[in-house]
Amino acid sequence: MTTPTPLVRDRALALSSEELPAYLYDLTALREHAAAVRAALPERVELYYAAKANPEPEILTALRPYVHGYEVSSGGELAHVGKAVPGSPLAFGGPGKTPAELASALELGVERFHVESVYELHMLAALAVRQAPGRRITVLPRFNLPVGDGALDSVSLAMGGRPTPFGLDPDQADDVVRLLTDGTCPQLELRGIHAHLASGLEAAEQLAVASSIVSWSAGLAARHDITLHEVVIGGGMAVDYAAPERRFDWAAYGAGLERLTAAHPGLTLRIEPGRALTAYCGWYATEVLDVKHSHGEEFAVVRGGTHHLRTPATKGHDQPCTVLPSDAPWPHPWPRSAARGDRVTLTGQLCTPKDLLSRNVPAAGLRAGDRVAFGLAGAYAWNISHHDFLMHPRPGFHFLGGTEEG
Ligand SMILES: Cc1ncc(COP(=O)(O)O)c(C=O)c1O
Repeated sequence: MTTPTPLVRDRALALSSEELPAYLYDLTALREHAAAVRAALPERVELYYAAKANPEPEILTALRPYVHGYEVSSGGELAHVGKAVPGSPLAFGGPGKTPAELASALELGVERFHVESVYELHMLAALAVRQAPGRRITVLPRFNLPVGDGALDSVSLAMGGRPTPFGLDPDQADDVVRLLTDGTCPQLELRGIHAHLASGLEAAEQLAVASSIVSWSAGLAARHDITLHEVVIGGGMAVDYAAPERRFDWAAYGAGLERLTAAHPGLTLRIEPGRALTAYCGWYATEVLDVKHSHGEEFAVVRGGTHHLRTPATKGHDQPCTVLPSDAPWPHPWPRSAARGDRVTLTGQLCTPKDLLSRNVPAAGLRAGDRVAFGLAGAYAWNISHHDFLMHPRPGFHFLGGTEEG
């Protein structure tokens, strides 16, 4: 269970059946959370928001006072974020960038390039000569670094510490440094190192990973007698869908990062969380269409489904939710279907048994017409969903607690 904020609860109950499902974002809650995250971070730790988690312009704008910049991972995100929050620093990542994407990044004056291969390094150097002659282009090669003691073994989304298509292999590091310092890529400035090794790490695991990225980078710098000014230690702060009230321990993380920066004077660290910043501000609110009994179990079919909120299907969890009983008079001449037992599985309208939003939810007395608000739907939710499957209508979008509510 997760309790919607009063703004979300009131709107979920006020919307008509036809206006559901709807994504409801509480921008006041988002701003408060982002301010607390920022306050927990010490000096010399920069906060970039990974726009892939939720690129809605209202979300990007609400975060703006609290972040140093935005991490984008495609030409599409680059153009979109550049338009939504003009003038904000951008870092451009992604494992397979096209020449056209790099060219538009150069044109837009992207501040940081996270270069993911030697091929990409050469391509960027050549494009810089043509597109931005004489301009210094700041690069942070991304490395897929090994992490000791099986630290990433338990995480569901690991991009590093094992064979993956992300970033450069550590054994290419010396060649990459040479390419960036021997005049081969004259406009490219080696500013630091980037690593994003996994998503779903708790504070202690994040700190262990950060410390190994920083020591590896320091070793590389010492070997080549160069200064690395910045190290990006990635995003991936855990969001616990099974315990939605529990939050990543930003205070412990901030304290650990303070120790790390103190040990490396002159070094700036950068983090780029997505999920842990925006997951909590979003709800997917909908209505129970029907309650069915099937072979001893109960199912409530709601308007919408995983084609709008793919998160539980893709991550294999039960999306935390709250039932909001509707006391409006039943408007139909036919009987209102209702749960007989205590536990109900909430499914969507798709013709597939995979359209499961939440299993065995304690929902005694749940009836058709009741509302359900699924929480932790502010990240990797609508924007990763297969909207067009079965051609159901799209949800509404409401940004609450902003200057202009919609
Ligand atoms: C390079 C990079 N940085 C940051 C993130 C954000 O991760 P999360 O949303 O888990 O914080 C991702 C997610 O895939 C990523 O690939």
